[in-house]
Amino acid sequence: MILAPSILAADAARLGEQVSCTERAGAKWLHIDIMDGHFVPNLSFGPGIVKALRPVSNQFFDVHLMIERAEKYIEPFANAGADGITVHLECVKDMDGCLALIRSLGKKAGIAINPDTPADGLLRYLDKIDMALVMSVFPGYGGQKYIRDVNEKIRFLRAAAGPEFRIEVDGGVNASNIKDVYSCGADVLVAGTAVFNEDIDGSVKALLHICGNTEN
Ligand code: DX5
Ligand code: ZN
Repeated sequence: MILAPSILAADAARLGEQVSCTERAGAKWLHIDIMDGHFVPNLSFGPGIVKALRPVSNQFFDVHLMIERAEKYIEPFANAGADGITVHLECVKDMDGCLALIRSLGKKAGIAINPDTPADGLLRYLDKIDMALVMSVFPGYGGQKYIRDVNEKIRFLRAAAGPEFRIEVDGGVNASNIKDVYSCGADVLVAGTAVFNEDIDGSVKALLHICGNTEN
């Protein structure tokens, strides 16, 4: 199981220090939520945040583009230091072009689907992506409640994609549900609010331990 702390929930005034804490505690990925105020009703970060954090962490930078016109920003995020770039099925017009661009830049490619988007829309892309991101909240904000209906989608995708394929789940994951989500077949788990609190080290270690990992 890979834990991917989401910096949307971090203290922006102490971001570097908090990211380092997650890495020391065993989180091998860092989830970086990019929002444009159009595809989602919120604004977050630009490529500059990836550039600023890159020297601070060796984690896999898992950039989640919740933006329209994603194709315009793939290269800037890749050049800033992203390792993986995930775009939304709901708003990308030329998905094949987008995925080819991400891979041409040497990055891992992902497609995300919202809670109300059927998983079968991903099937035709499974051989062109390195990961599927199943949103378990409607994107835009951290701290929302996990939508349990998506568990069926996770199981469906795991059965369709096989045991080696990366399935990431994002939104409302915490100590009370992470084992359940993991057992549905997710292997990358995003956690924002459940990590960035008064005990970041302890929270990361507890979430990893619940899924039987001390390393991930
Ligand atoms: C929501 C983001 C999620 C969010 C997760 O639009 O994509 O990554 O930050 O935050 P928590 O874990 O607090 O629900
Ligand atoms: Zn996200």
